[in-house]
Amino acid sequence: MLDAGILRCPVCAQALHADERTLRCGSGHSFDIAKEGYCNLLRTGKPGDSRGDNKEMARSRRDFLQKGYFDPLARAVEACAAQYTKDGDTVLDICCGEGYYTDYLSQQLSRRCFGFDISKNMVRLAAKRRCGATFFVANIASIPVRDASVKLAFHLFAPFHAAEFGRILADDGIIVTAVPGKRHLFGLKQVLYETPYENDEQPPKADGLTPVDTLRVQTSVTLHTEEDIAALFQMTPYYYHTPSAGKQRLAQLDALTMDIAFVLYIYRKG
Ligand SMILES: C[S@@+](CC[C@H](N)C(=O)[O-])C[C@H]1O[C@@H](n2cnc3c(N)ncnc32)[C@H](O)[C@@H]1O
Ligand SMILES: [Zn+2]
Repeated sequence: MLDAGILRCPVCAQALHADERTLRCGSGHSFDIAKEGYCNLLRTGKPGDSRGDNKEMARSRRDFLQKGYFDPLARAVEACAAQYTKDGDTVLDICCGEGYYTDYLSQQLSRRCFGFDISKNMVRLAAKRRCGATFFVANIASIPVRDASVKLAFHLFAPFHAAEFGRILADDGIIVTAVPGKRHLFGLKQVLYETPYENDEQPPKADGLTPVDTLRVQTSVTLHTEEDIAALFQMTPYYYHTPSAGKQRLAQLDALTMDIAFVLYIYRKG
């Protein structure tokens, strides 16, 4: 059965409890558990509203990450979780996408893992992993999680919401957020653009959170197939902003070597 643990009702904020098919609060608000095992707790938007990546993009992201190209990042997140939490502590993957990092962490460490994303297509794939984590659909602007209930949250390449993140973190809770490093995918950008720019490594606006550490992860990877190159391109913002000449240059490659680089900013509540 799904672990309702830290979840709260998105309507009245009371604790949610799970049975086989439903999450329910004391006031009788109830939310169906989908057959894949996730729950949609998103209250905004119209019924049937499907936000974020479409099914094909979500699957392509999953298949790419599954090949392990970004595992240096997964290992860095795991090292942070090992350092700042102990067995049984609650860990939340904010904007979890299709759950690659949640799954990775739950295989490596004995933590109570939760993950959410605004995209139902992503969360459905995450739940299909059956990795023991609880996945739900929600918006960072209104997270259906109880106050001060999360020991460590991690948050990779996604929008930041300092007030909500501070609210759900335990009093000594930690949030690890990753942004692209200066040279991240620079080799890809050199193919796409005449004058590629380095990333600015700008930390998020983390009002109310105290910086405790900054970690850098950088290595070189080689993509060996056209399919992997296309999948990576589709995962990046450049997919939407590249002139056709750049796209054509990329389509001619069957291998691509480049740096991947991440900056992890670590904050404590308070
Ligand atoms: C670049 S992807 C990163 C996904 C995952 N963290 C990873 O690294 O594989 C950004 C994710 O943020 C999610 N997202 C964007 N805005 C959101 C919001 N307001 N609330 C929750 N998730 C959001 C998107 O649906 C998307 O899955
Ligand atoms: Zn309720």
